[in-house]
Amino acid sequence: MAAPNGVTTFISVLLLFTSLPTHSSSQQQQPDHHTLLDIRDFWGAPLSTLWNSSLHYCSWSGIQCNPSFSVIGLSLSNLSITSHSVPDSLCRLPLLSSLNLSWNYLGGPFPTTLYNCTNLETLNLSQNLFVGPLPIDADRLSPNLTHLDLSSNNFSGGVPASLARMTSLVSLTLNYNLLDGAVADLRNLTNLETLSLANNPFPPHPFPDWTGRLLSLKDLWLQSTNLLGPIPASLGGLSRLEVFDVSSNGLTGPIPSPVWRMGSLKYLYLFKNRLSGVIDGSIQWPNLTKIDLSRNDFSGPIPPAFGGFRKLELIFMHNNRLSGRIPDGIGRLSLLRDIRLFNNNLSGPLPPDLGRYSKLQNIELNNNRLSGEIPKNLCFGRKLGAIVLFNNRMSGPLPESLAACETLTAIMIYNNGISGPVPRGIWSLPALDTVMISRNSFSGALPDAMPAALTRFEIDNNDFSGPLPSSLASASRGLHVLIASHNRFSGVIPLGLVSLAHLGKLALDGNLLSGTIPDQLGGLTLLTFLNLSDNRLSGQIPASIGSLPVLTDLDLSKNELFGEIPPQIANLKLTFLNLSSNSLSGSVPVTLQNSACERSFLSNPGLCCGPIISLPSCRGGSGSGDSSKGFSSPLIITLLALAGAVGAGASVFVVFALREFHRRRGSGGSISWKLTSFYSLDFTGASIASGLTEENLVACGGAGKVYRVPLLNRPDQVVAVKKLCSNRDADAEKEFQSEIDVLGRIRHMNIVKLLCCISSDDVRLLVYEYMENGGLDRWIHSSADNQLDWPTRFRVAVDAAQGLSYMHHDYVPPVVHRDFKSSNVLLDEDFMARIADFGLARMLARPGEPGTVTAGFAGSFGYMAPGGYPKLHLFPPDLF
Ligand SMILES: *[C@@H]1O[C@H](CO)[C@@H](O)[C@H](O)[C@H]1NC(C)=O
Ligand SMILES: *[C@@H]1O[C@H](CO)[C@@H](O)[C@H](O)[C@H]1NC(C)=O
Ligand SMILES: *[C@@H]1O[C@H](CO)[C@@H](O)[C@H](O)[C@H]1NC(C)=O
Ligand SMILES: *[C@@H]1O[C@H](CO)[C@@H](O)[C@H](O)[C@H]1NC(C)=O
Ligand SMILES: *[C@@H]1O[C@H](CO)[C@@H](O)[C@H](O)[C@H]1NC(C)=O
Ligand SMILES: *[C@@H]1O[C@H](CO)[C@@H](O)[C@H](O)[C@H]1NC(C)=O
Ligand SMILES: *[C@@H]1O[C@H](CO)[C@@H](O)[C@H](O)[C@H]1NC(C)=O
Ligand SMILES: *[C@@H]1O[C@H](CO)[C@@H](O)[C@H](O)[C@H]1NC(C)=O
Ligand SMILES: *[C@@H]1O[C@H](CO)[C@@H](O)[C@H](O)[C@H]1NC(C)=O
Ligand SMILES: *[C@@H]1O[C@H](CO)[C@@H](O)[C@H](O)[C@H]1NC(C)=O
Repeated sequence: MAAPNGVTTFISVLLLFTSLPTHSSSQQQQPDHHTLLDIRDFWGAPLSTLWNSSLHYCSWSGIQCNPSFSVIGLSLSNLSITSHSVPDSLCRLPLLSSLNLSWNYLGGPFPTTLYNCTNLETLNLSQNLFVGPLPIDADRLSPNLTHLDLSSNNFSGGVPASLARMTSLVSLTLNYNLLDGAVADLRNLTNLETLSLANNPFPPHPFPDWTGRLLSLKDLWLQSTNLLGPIPASLGGLSRLEVFDVSSNGLTGPIPSPVWRMGSLKYLYLFKNRLSGVIDGSIQWPNLTKIDLSRNDFSGPIPPAFGGFRKLELIFMHNNRLSGRIPDGIGRLSLLRDIRLFNNNLSGPLPPDLGRYSKLQNIELNNNRLSGEIPKNLCFGRKLGAIVLFNNRMSGPLPESLAACETLTAIMIYNNGISGPVPRGIWSLPALDTVMISRNSFSGALPDAMPAALTRFEIDNNDFSGPLPSSLASASRGLHVLIASHNRFSGVIPLGLVSLAHLGKLALDGNLLSGTIPDQLGGLTLLTFLNLSDNRLSGQIPASIGSLPVLTDLDLSKNELFGEIPPQIANLKLTFLNLSSNSLSGSVPVTLQNSACERSFLSNPGLCCGPIISLPSCRGGSGSGDSSKGFSSPLIITLLALAGAVGAGASVFVVFALREFHRRRGSGGSISWKLTSFYSLDFTGASIASGLTEENLVACGGAGKVYRVPLLNRPDQVVAVKKLCSNRDADAEKEFQSEIDVLGRIRHMNIVKLLCCISSDDVRLLVYEYMENGGLDRWIHSSADNQLDWPTRFRVAVDAAQGLSYMHHDYVPPVVHRDFKSSNVLLDEDFMARIADFGLARMLARPGEPGTVTAGFAGSFGYMAPGGYPKLHLFPPDLF
């Protein structure tokens, strides 16, 4: 019984100490106690355990009492309270002035029961599940309410006039809701210090004309051209406003001058709107601490006044169209931590004192037209983490002082005119993980030791010389990317590279490296990209390179390599291979003997090949055992050739080769077209063929050119035409047949319609329905501006899945696409998705039916179905 006694003693001491009455006596007389029990009963768990009757209620968690044991505050934040309402009983706590219910699961409409809490000063309902409009009688809340936080709920509609009447409000926080209506005139909320309306889906003009007058024709015209900024001028009358957050709202137009003159501003967040115009030069914001104007359309200069805002810590104005110089005064702000002005049109030098007077942590000024030298004192405050200055016109050296900047993690200054040696100390900075200094004029040698934390090292297109440090690897084992192309590095490829176990990309091309390619490179099992071209490497290609499991790009061209191509190279799943301009000899491994690789072996006088590609034929006698064995089994050759001919990079070669072939044959006279249609059509082969003009060309895809052809007889109707040039090439023929076999028969709304195929002697055309919005890749990998919203993405995913599901489960025989990727998902004008490009698709035979041929590898690397294909009996494991 020691423990309970201990606890009791402790509680007694506690109660003595806080001079609370014991629960057995006066507690029962406290009406607030009963009220709290009612609340506890109403909401149940977790209050039922938190509010333990053996303690005085004033010491229950989340409860604040005044000295006479009246509850004045309830702070029930983040307790997982789950309910659709707030109990009436809450307002029976007569002196309740602060109510914090944030971070719970309270739902339903706005809790008007709180109108009865007449002493409420602070109400925090943020981070709940409330829905519906804000009440039009919200001003029935306590007239003394000063802080109202309704953020992060699902309130919708406008901001009603009732809120605009709550003139005691000091803070009004409505961000992260679904507000999509008009915002009432807030000019009478003159006590406001915080106004946050950010992240609501307001319509383009959330603030109607607050002047209450009839609009003249002139005003209407002004409004329609957005000269009247939808941020209302009258907000400028909120003379105490310190926090103004209307970010991410789709606001347009310039900011009216009264708003620029809100002199008490501390935090100004206008980012991610479509605000425009210049930043008022006469602004006076002595207390400004953080300003974020980023991702708008502001133009003109950054006013020099910013240099006088002594409390400024953070300046974000990136992604605008600002021009002119960065005011020098900004460099003397003593609290400045972070300055981001990237993606503007700024010019001139950086403020020379930048970093000298403050603890600067981050500068991002990339993609401007800045010039001059990098300021000497950027890291004077010993806090600098990143220097991001790429794509400017900076010149001069990298300051020596950075060598002492122990906090520095990233130097991204590529594509400038920075010259001279890199200060030695930089190479031993403990935190440095990213060095991107390509395309400058750096010179000198690399030191023996490299930064230990380095993961990315890009120094290409400079004037570095000397050997590659042999210890490069021993220090930076985490290196992922090493690009040292186009310098003047000499000597051998250091064996130390081999211990870079994480290396994915290694490019040393365009240097003066000599010696052999180390066999140990085969140990870099994560390598996907290897470019050693244009050096003086000699010796044989190590067979071990053929065992790099994920290598997709291999370029050893323009060296002095000799000997045979190791047959292991053929095992790689390459999308790019270039071994040209060496002194290789012997026979090209059979699996690489296809037109896709035709250009990969040029200018190797001793190299010979089978009949498919245009190297000297091996029949002269130099054919290796490898190749004769291969030819003994024609089936396998066809299959392997098919396997090799795929992949985006390779296909370009196919097209090239085919075009050459086509040109040699010439084309004269009238051509007769054969049309095989899969739908009822009203156009002819010749009319389609005549539309294959340069101006109708929309894409050059893996297997040919794609045209957008309006129909002659009905110009408003458009079809897409894929042109495959030759029928002589085995691979192209396969793709053509596959596309016809599969697509000609499939009918599903999520699979692109093949209308017909048209062929002449040497041209084959596939005619599809035209998909207005093109490939999905364009929408998900392009600039942020035209990205798809999530509901659309979701629909696209479901559409595509339905298409696949149909192919796999409903179509007989089942079809596997084998090259399913975003560029093969097309979108119509309503963003309905359809799967396209069945050139690699295969029908799977059912047990008992003759097996359909298939290749071991197909499709673009990275898009193959994980684990290959469904296990079916028709892939005898010994086939390959
Ligand atoms: C209340 O606290 C006492 C003492 O700590 C404990 O014995 C009792 O189980 C608690 N009651 C509840 C309902 O949690
Ligand atoms: C509400 O509670 C949270 C966390 O418990 C706290 O951060 C916040 O300041 C509180 N707000 C009010 C108004 O009490
Ligand atoms: C809420 O509580 C959980 C654990 O109880 C904690 O991890 C989380 O940080 C809290 N959230 C807030 C906003 O206080
Ligand atoms: C306020 O309290 C009174 C009496 O308890 C009750 O009749 C009334 O419905 C309450 N008002 C609201 C808005 O809940
Ligand atoms: C509002 O606050 C004032 C002073 O703080 C107080 O005198 C007054 O009673 C309060 N009004 C209400 C309705 O509670
Ligand atoms: C309301 O609570 C949230 C989260 O608990 C907190 O971040 C916020 O500052 C509070 N609002 C006010 C006005 O105190
Ligand atoms: C809140 O809105 C979001 C986005 O529209 C929605 O996903 C979510 O289900 C809504 N939650 C509630 C409780 O209404
Ligand atoms: C602001 O307050 C004044 C005086 O109380 C009132 O006449 C006016 O209608 C109010 N304006 C708005 C837009 O609420
Ligand atoms: C700036 O802040 C100080 C201290 O908080 C305050 O006294 C002063 O009035 C503020 N200045 C303006 C223009 O709001
Ligand atoms: C950038 O500014 C220069 C003049 O300083 C101007 O000629 C150029 O058009 C501007 N570029 C853009 C994209 O605004």
